[in-house]
Order: sequence, then structure tokens, then C-alpha cells
Amino acid sequence: MFRKRMRVAPFVLAVLLATGLVPAYRPALAQQASPVAPTRAQAQMVVTEAYEKFRNETGGKNADYIPVLAQVDSKLFGIAVATTDNQVLAIGNTDFAFSIQSISKVFSQALAMEELGPDVFFLKIGSEPTGRAFNSVFAVADMPTHTGNPYVNAGAISTVSLISGKTADEKWNKILNFYSRAAGERLTLLNEVYKSEAATNTGNKALSMLLAKYDRIYADPFESVDVYTKQCSVGVTVVQLARMGATLANNGKNPATVEQVIKPENVPYILSTMMMAGLYDGSGGWAWKVGLPAKSGVGGGIVAVVPGKGAIAVFAPPLDEAGNSVKAQKVIEYVARKLDFNIYSPRSVGLKPGGPVASK
Ligand code: DON
Repeated sequence: MFRKRMRVAPFVLAVLLATGLVPAYRPALAQQASPVAPTRAQAQMVVTEAYEKFRNETGGKNADYIPVLAQVDSKLFGIAVATTDNQVLAIGNTDFAFSIQSISKVFSQALAMEELGPDVFFLKIGSEPTGRAFNSVFAVADMPTHTGNPYVNAGAISTVSLISGKTADEKWNKILNFYSRAAGERLTLLNEVYKSEAATNTGNKALSMLLAKYDRIYADPFESVDVYTKQCSVGVTVVQLARMGATLANNGKNPATVEQVIKPENVPYILSTMMMAGLYDGSGGWAWKVGLPAKSGVGGGIVAVVPGKGAIAVFAPPLDEAGNSVKAQKVIEYVARKLDFNIYSPRSVGLKPGGPVASK
């Protein structure tokens, strides 16, 4: 994604950035670096710029319905980019392990799809945007599938119930192991977060019973909620999260360990769900503004995937009304625009200004 050899002197680029000439210059860079991979230095500069630009942003509020999340320092802020050619750029609080929360749902979807394949998964869970909050009860009652998609809590609990295992512990270990393989490092449970959420998750228990009413849960409801609560309490650093995203960007193969973690044929389905529902009732606005498949978590993380190139992960706890990190959305939007990443933009995949070359 980021070429090691620079084509533009860093000084020249820094001057262009400082003088605001980048918007005019950027398309030329993308073109020059065809097939549209910015150099490492270009990416480094944009990430640093974003960090400086948004570090004092004060919008949003920590999640507090999981009591321990309200105690996390709201000023923590980290950005990491991991590429399909195994480079990492990181800045800020890059060593802090925060709870993955709903971002876990992407990787449980991937695990369930490994076992069931896309067709069965789609039938049992679906991939429809609900336009409702992540914990919506109405989405369960109103949606024809009653699960909506694997990212609203109901769909995520149902997804966990689909993962095979003789005991809840076996399922949980399988999930943790799968996430660790996607990250390329052993991940662990944040026990304080788990205890705090387990003590207060009556809403999710209610959703699991509602799913049972509609025959949309495939294992013991409360046991499924418990495994789900554990998966949400897995700790990740922003670098580990970026690597998990890069595994998706790299067709399911972890760029660091070179292990094929996710079947390549499942990746486009997963990315399309991320685009449709990754930011819940903020997903439409996100697709409009940013155009990258992404997933948020109430721990303050967001990871966005740039297919074939890499992933951008940001951690900053204060959230908007939909439960998406305010700073993380701003950073990813900024970085993606500057580096020309948008899966709906023909330029992003290498189309040069003036359109395709007509064949004679
Ligand atoms: O079930 C819950 O409410 C949390 N464990 C996860 C919610 C979440 O992260 C929503 N995402 N923004």
C-alpha cells in the first residue's frame, strides 16, 4: 500500500501540505503512484496531520451504559494504519488495550461464515440495514428476518449462537482464537469490562428471548449472550485492530503472519455488511461521506477497510448518539479523503482524470 521508495521529496510534500496545495496536487499523486498506492511518507504525513488536527476535538461522550467504559480516559487517542504489504504506521496511544465491543461482530460473522458459508449465513442472519439503534428491540420485531444483520445486537447474539461448539467455553475459545489469528497476536479478555457488562446486560438478555420467540436463536439464549459479552470484552490496541482490518483488506490473509484466516470468497460479503450496517443508524451518512466499509464499537474504536490496500483504525472513547467514536469518524474521513480512498470513487481504484482509455 505504502511504497517504501519515495517518488516525491518529503520536503516538497511538506511544503505543499503546509501551503494547502494538496487538494490540487493529490490526484496527481494518486495517478503517479498507480495503481493508487500512496508512499509511506505520504501516508505518514496525512496520519500525523489528522492526529494534530483532531487531538483537541471534544465532541461526544464515553459510553456509560457499561459502567466501566465511563471511567476510561476520554482523552486517549490513537491512530494506526496497517497495510496489505505488512507496514504499520501508528501515532498516539497505540499501546492502550481497549474493549473491541461491536467491532468483534465482524469477526464472529467471519467465523460463522467459515462454518456455514455465505448462503446459510445470509438466510439465518441477513445483511439489511435496520436504520435503528444497535440495541433496537423494534428492529427484531419489525424486520422480516428478526435479526436484521450481524451487527445489531440481536443479529450478533444470533450469530454467536450459530458458531459450533459442545460447550459455551469451547465456543468462546474458538472465537478468541479466531480474533487472535486475525490480529496476528494473542488477544485476551478485559475481565473488568466483561464483569461490568455482564452485570448490566439485561437489554441483551431480553433481545435473546425475543429471538427465541421468533426461532432466531440457535443455542441457549443466555449462554449465547454470555459468550457475546465476552467477545465484546476482548482487549485490542489500535495497532492490533488495524491488523485485523488489514486481514480483511488482504483477502482474509493476515499480512503479518501470512496465515489465511478468513476464506477469500467470504470477504466481499463481510465488507458489504460493514458498509450497510457498520455504523448502525450512522451507516448511510458514513457511506456518503467516506465510502469505506467500517465497523465501530462503543469502546471508542473504529476500523475502516481499504480493500487490497490496508486498514485505518482509530481509538478515541467519546461517542456520538449512534454509538460511534466522534474523533475516529473525523480522522478516518480526513485520512481517506487525503489519500483518495473511497470504494465508490473511480479514481480510488486507478481511473485517471479524463476517464478510461478508449480502445481503438
Ligand atoms: O452489546 C452491547 O451493547 C455492547 N457489548 C456492544 C455495543 C457496541 O459496541 C455498539 N457499537 N457501537
